Amino acid sequence: MFFLVLFLLISTVCSQDYYTAAVIDYSPHLISSPSELSITLNEFNNFCKIASQKGAQIIIFPEYGLLSQRGLNRDNILPYLEYIPDPKSSTQPIIPCGNIEFKNRTIMKTLSCIAKQNNIVVVADMGDIKPCTNSSSTNDCPSDGRFQFNTLVAFSETGELIARYHKYNLYNEHFFDPSPSVEISTFTTSFNVTFGMFICFDIMFEHPAYDLVLQKVQNFVYSTKWVNSNYLLAVQAQQSWSGQNKVNLLASNIGLSIKTSGSGIYSNGEILASTFNPTFNKSSRMLISQVPKIPKQQMTTIEMSLNIRAVVKESMIPISAIPPHDITIVTFVPELNQKKSIQILANNNNLTCEFSYSGARNHHFHTPTLGLLAFAGEIEGGHQVELCAVSLCNNSTKDSCLEYIFNSGIQIDSFSIKGSYKKDQHMIPIVNTSPPLKQLPKYESPSPIYSIKNLKKSFIG
Ligand SMILES: *[C@@H]1O[C@H](CO)[C@@H](O)[C@H](O)[C@H]1NC(C)=O
Ligand SMILES: *[C@@H]1O[C@H](CO)[C@@H](O)[C@H](O)[C@H]1NC(C)=O
Ligand SMILES: *[C@@H]1O[C@H](CO)[C@@H](O)[C@H](O)[C@H]1NC(C)=O
Ligand SMILES: *[C@@H]1O[C@H](CO)[C@@H](O)[C@H](O)[C@H]1NC(C)=O
Ligand SMILES: *[C@@H]1O[C@H](CO)[C@@H](O)[C@H](O)[C@H]1NC(C)=O
Ligand SMILES: *[C@@H]1O[C@H](CO)[C@@H](O)[C@H](O)[C@H]1NC(C)=O
Ligand SMILES: *[C@@H]1O[C@H](CO)[C@@H](O)[C@H](O)[C@H]1NC(C)=O
Repeated sequence: MFFLVLFLLISTVCSQDYYTAAVIDYSPHLISSPSELSITLNEFNNFCKIASQKGAQIIIFPEYGLLSQRGLNRDNILPYLEYIPDPKSSTQPIIPCGNIEFKNRTIMKTLSCIAKQNNIVVVADMGDIKPCTNSSSTNDCPSDGRFQFNTLVAFSETGELIARYHKYNLYNEHFFDPSPSVEISTFTTSFNVTFGMFICFDIMFEHPAYDLVLQKVQNFVYSTKWVNSNYLLAVQAQQSWSGQNKVNLLASNIGLSIKTSGSGIYSNGEILASTFNPTFNKSSRMLISQVPKIPKQQMTTIEMSLNIRAVVKESMIPISAIPPHDITIVTFVPELNQKKSIQILANNNNLTCEFSYSGARNHHFHTPTLGLLAFAGEIEGGHQVELCAVSLCNNSTKDSCLEYIFNSGIQIDSFSIKGSYKKDQHMIPIVNTSPPLKQLPKYESPSPIYSIKNLKKSFIG
């Protein structure tokens, strides 16, 4: 009897410290009419059913999981937009399932019923429409008299709409309007976890994602349709954000192909579960993991495996948001077995990047060429970025440093990457390996100088 009681006590304590989450790396149907939404919604329902059976309490679907259509513009997207009320300003709970007021808002009604029937919190991305007019105080209403927002919604297990977030940092989405003001959206679940929400490109910006971190939000739901570029792979970018902010991140991406895929569940930079589709074929996958309500403590040491396998082969298409010829690339063959620190510099516009390393060893026959990359300027979409990176090159030609090549055979005892970044920039330190490192290296980022230091053992590539 004593043991039984003890066991129950322990299991209660454990289940209170963790929740179970599911994210989908989802390959959407290209829809050509609103009636085809039911195909996607049926699939969503099936995922929820399985996730719920496996004990998941919350499930995340990706950005454009529902609105996947070619050639969208402000007008032809209209049949897919629904008026989404603001749950924060409603005095009554908003439960679209079985509610006559929502009879022609199919997406909201169905998501609400899916959440209720499967007893799971559902987070999904859809489109909101808000008729508007200019007034004496505002003239931000688009000329067609309506705001159209890329919107993340959350429904509780009772089917109640509990949160709504309008995307702030759009990426080439001319059929949507950015939210006129930054929205800080959170919701607290029945299992007593408060989640912050943001979408895709928002991860690169201070507002609203970092505002939520400053408000001590420790758990995040994140929907994305992330196009991988050679220095910004989805999983690694998500992992980095989770580690940098010491928070849990539940990230769901479109699982279309090697170009657009990569989802995961992260706790303070540690990958609890992740998936990446390294092929050109569509596939959907579900990840389920227990997540500690309080993010894991930072690990002080990391062990990187000697055999970092190259999953990604020559078939990978290099995609870059930066015109490759605008990047300064300084190639070098690392000096081996030097105790002293060796510096490499690269300048681009007014940015100086410095890579310092010592104790390099080579495990392959040839010592590979590395490239120090520097870029300061505007990228696609009109955003200003500063980038310092070290990458593995295929050979001594500069352009070959922008390919997807892994497994250099180079081991380095200690290195740092520093940049003369402008003050008060939002920094995103990323380590791209294939497969991703389970844990992030320890970071030291006293803005404006950012560096990775004291790696006991590390490999580039
Ligand atoms: C939905 O129904 C309302 C009235 O209940 C109507 O005004 C509106 O035009 C309908 N919307 C669509 C997309 O059918
Ligand atoms: C609101 O004002 C802006 C700026 O003057 C203008 O571009 C836009 O067309 C106006 N919207 C409407 C609905 O008139
Ligand atoms: C919910 O969590 C907060 C801490 O995040 C804690 O202070 C509070 O006691 C918890 N409430 C319940 C009902 O467990
Ligand atoms: C991708 O699909 C094609 C055609 O369906 C098939 O021949 C090929 O084996 C698939 N590749 C992978 C990696 O699954
Ligand atoms: C690397 O270079 C070799 C020739 O040196 C070439 O055969 C191979 O395709 C290159 N790899 C990539 C990823 O371009
Ligand atoms: C570099 O900095 C100088 C002095 O601060 C400034 O005048 C110049 O416009 C900058 N150049 C670029 C490309 O940003
Ligand atoms: C260098 O690598 C690039 C691609 O990474 C390849 O296209 C080129 O042929 C290689 N050059 C030589 C001389 O091997």
